[in-house]
Amino acid sequence: MKHLLSTGDLTRDEAVLILDTAGQMAATQAREIKKLPTLRGRTVVNLFFEDSTRTRISFETAAKRLSADVINFSAKGSSVSKGESLKDTALTLQAMGADAVVIRHQASGAPHTLATSGWTHGAVVNAGDGTHQHPTQALLDAYTLRRHLVGAGGAQDPSGRDLDGLHVAIVGDVLHSRVARSNVQLLHTLGAHVTLVAPPTLVPVGVEAWPCDVSYRLDDVIDTKPDAVMMLRVQRERMSSAGGGFFPSPLEYTRGYGLDARRLAALPDHAIVMHPGPMNRGLEISADAADSPRAVIVEQVANGVAVRMAVLYLLLAGGQTPVAPQPNPNRSAE
Ligand code: CP
Repeated sequence: MKHLLSTGDLTRDEAVLILDTAGQMAATQAREIKKLPTLRGRTVVNLFFEDSTRTRISFETAAKRLSADVINFSAKGSSVSKGESLKDTALTLQAMGADAVVIRHQASGAPHTLATSGWTHGAVVNAGDGTHQHPTQALLDAYTLRRHLVGAGGAQDPSGRDLDGLHVAIVGDVLHSRVARSNVQLLHTLGAHVTLVAPPTLVPVGVEAWPCDVSYRLDDVIDTKPDAVMMLRVQRERMSSAGGGFFPSPLEYTRGYGLDARRLAALPDHAIVMHPGPMNRGLEISADAADSPRAVIVEQVANGVAVRMAVLYLLLAGGQTPVAPQPNPNRSAE
């Protein structure tokens, strides 16, 4: 694996390796000293052309926990506002010696362009491009599903190697969601069954070719007792640029597709509630659902650090360098 651009590029073995490695990384993060020397001397550039809270912070945390040097670039306040292109921005950052470039961009395909253009010599990691892909989000979602629903010991359980037989409902604004696209591909690769639930106006053209079922009725899908429901953010910023009109009113959207206390109560006892964030509380998810004990939304964020550590480690250290910190030879045995 030289880059991570799309979950569609991952084989089952590669995906399982990332999830297993994330489990090892998470174990190191329970220690008093969380920092590992693994990527000492390497430079990770975070190149964010679009807003982000969770992804940007967790990539920065992940790189720093692996002892990499981190350069954070945000388009806002940079020479992009003077018209500088992706190419010239990438060449400038390459001049600083990037070993990996983590890129979020509003244009679908920008990470692929960066990876194939020769503008950077480093590994390219897609941190979300347009409505296309968000592979590390899907990986952290799979990791979270695995910990809660597969085997008694989750990721540490040798039987918990994949998600065979799990049923995951992904609900809401599928049309604009790179999270949905990435998850459908990855969850299918890992053996889970996915049902997309959305109003017809928010289902992408060509969805018949995706490896999943599609429903327009959330209550019907909840009746099938899914193991997890993943609520999607209604992406109003992408709707307004398309002239709006995807649903009659927020209230009607919530009635048809919102996860509220009644629907929460209808889920099986073991089912978990997921959301990639940021949430529109009161629109796609009520406070009852977002704050319920079965919501794993905050845990998804925490798992994002371990998963991104695993991705950077596998891309930059090639699996050759030990995960565990080396003993300090200058320190006497205790
Ligand atoms: N889930 C996610 O990508 O969140 P951010 O936009 O805050 O990074």
